[in-house]
Amino acid sequence: MLTPFTAAPGIDVLPTVARLPGLGQLVVNAFVLHGEEPVLVDAGVVAERDDFVDALRSVIDPADLRWLWLTHTDFDHIGAIAVLLAENPHLRVLTSFGGVGIMGLFNPLPMDRVHLINPGETLVLPDRTLTAVRPPAFDNPITVGFHDDRTDTLFSSDCFGALLAEIPEDAADLSEAELHAGQVLWSTIDSSWLHKADPAILARDLDGIRAIEPSLVCSSHLPPAPGRLLDLFLGSVAAVPTADPFVGPDQAALEQMLAAMAPVSA
Ligand SMILES: [Fe+2]
Ligand SMILES: [Fe+2]
Repeated sequence: MLTPFTAAPGIDVLPTVARLPGLGQLVVNAFVLHGEEPVLVDAGVVAERDDFVDALRSVIDPADLRWLWLTHTDFDHIGAIAVLLAENPHLRVLTSFGGVGIMGLFNPLPMDRVHLINPGETLVLPDRTLTAVRPPAFDNPITVGFHDDRTDTLFSSDCFGALLAEIPEDAADLSEAELHAGQVLWSTIDSSWLHKADPAILARDLDGIRAIEPSLVCSSHLPPAPGRLLDLFLGSVAAVPTADPFVGPDQAALEQMLAAMAPVSA
C-alpha cells in the first residue's frame, strides 16, 4: 500500500500500486467519503487485505462506516468486504443485482446488508446525495460509479485509469500526453470491447458524462484529477475504438523472462 492522502476536503484516498512488466504502473485506489454516514468506495486488493484494513484505520475507525459502495466485483475492489461486514453490523453494501450474484460465488453478501442500486438511481443521505452512474468504459458488467453532490466528485470506477511511469497524488502533475497515452493503453487492455463500439453511440455516452461537470474525478486507477481534465479523459476513451489492440506477451516472451530471472549456476 502507498501512504493514504486527502484528495479534497472530506475525501481520503487509500492507494496501492501494481507494477505491470513492460507496461508501467497502475494505481489501485479506494476512497473514504467522510460525513454523517461515511462511505467507503471499494475495499482494496484481495491479496493485500490486512494492509488495506490498516490503511483504512489510519483515516477512519471502520466501525464508523455506514456504506460500502462496491463499484464492481473484481479482485482489486473486494479485498476487505467480508472483514468489514463482520466487524461492523451497521455497514451496508451498495451494489447492483449482478454484484450480489457474483459475490455469491466467492463470499456471499448477507442480503439484509445489501442496498441495490442501478445507474440513474440516487441514494439520499442526511448530508449528501449519491447518484449512480454507468461509466462509459468498464471491465465488468455490474460496474456502477456515482456522483457525490456534496464534494461534486465523480467516482468512475476503472474508467479513466492509466498505465503510468510514476504515480503522483494529483493527475494534474502529469502531462496531457502521458495521461492520454496511459489511459488509451489501459482501456485497450481493460475495456477491449471498445474496439467494437460504435463511435457515434460512444460519443453520446461520453456527452452524458461530460454534462456532469464534476469538480473532481476519482478513478480507481488514476490519481485524483481536477474536473477540468475530464474533457481530456473523455477524448482518451473516444480514441480507443481506433487504437492498436493490446496483445499480451506470448509463451516465447515468458520463457525469455523466466530465463533472465533464473539463478546462474556455478
Ligand atoms: Fe475492474
Ligand atoms: Fe479495477
